[in-house]
Amino acid sequence: MADAPRPLVAGNWKMNGLLAGREEARLVAERIAARPAACDVLICPPFTLIAPLAKTLDKSAILRGGQDCHPAQSGAHTGNVSAEMLSDLTCSHVIVGHSERRADHGESDVLVRAKAEAAISQSLTAIVCIGETEAERDRGETLDVVKRQLAGSVPYAATAASVTIAYEPVWAIGTGRTPTPDDVAEVHGVIRNELASRFGQDGHGMRILYGGSVKPANASELMSVANVDGALVGGASLKADDFDGIIEAYR
Ligand code: PGA
Repeated sequence: MADAPRPLVAGNWKMNGLLAGREEARLVAERIAARPAACDVLICPPFTLIAPLAKTLDKSAILRGGQDCHPAQSGAHTGNVSAEMLSDLTCSHVIVGHSERRADHGESDVLVRAKAEAAISQSLTAIVCIGETEAERDRGETLDVVKRQLAGSVPYAATAASVTIAYEPVWAIGTGRTPTPDDVAEVHGVIRNELASRFGQDGHGMRILYGGSVKPANASELMSVANVDGALVGGASLKADDFDGIIEAYR
């Protein structure tokens, strides 16, 4: 069996942050430099802040990523950003298929897979998001939904380096509610089995992040669950104290 992947703590700023937000990122970088953690750290700001943050963080180990990309490399797609553009700004990752994009923009598994393929073609790691709604959980469909989204959204040529999975129950995002550690263990175990049967060793080495109301107070417990290789953090990634408090789970 492959070694457990090095964990990743990723911040998704969503549509938050002005130029002044660079200060929070700088503070996180300062704390990591003073007290290194046994994980990689990534910030995915809005597109407008990627270049300024790249400058703020150029001497830091903090990675940068986008929150979405278009499947095409360039062309007549008003308002969209390509994987190549993210790569050009020193991004290493891009989130694809976040539930807010699936819900607000009607993104299908097929589209999410195409976006992930575009990311891989530019040597970005695609963070592919999956997760059930509250109604699906109540109907006992969680594992079916997760398997279906995995099968449909993850590129055929995915490797441990090119794809990271983020399991984010939709009902846990921004609500302060989280699944129990046992529930997280069950879903992450199923995701690991699916990845291993599809990608072999790479499936064992692929990171599986948990996302949805991760905070300093619950990070250690959630990050210690089997097959949880880090976190995708929304609200709590916006303040240096909170984000660093989550990174603390790996110190
Ligand atoms: P949250 O968001 O941490 O604010 O719940 C997580 C996410 O949507 O990635």
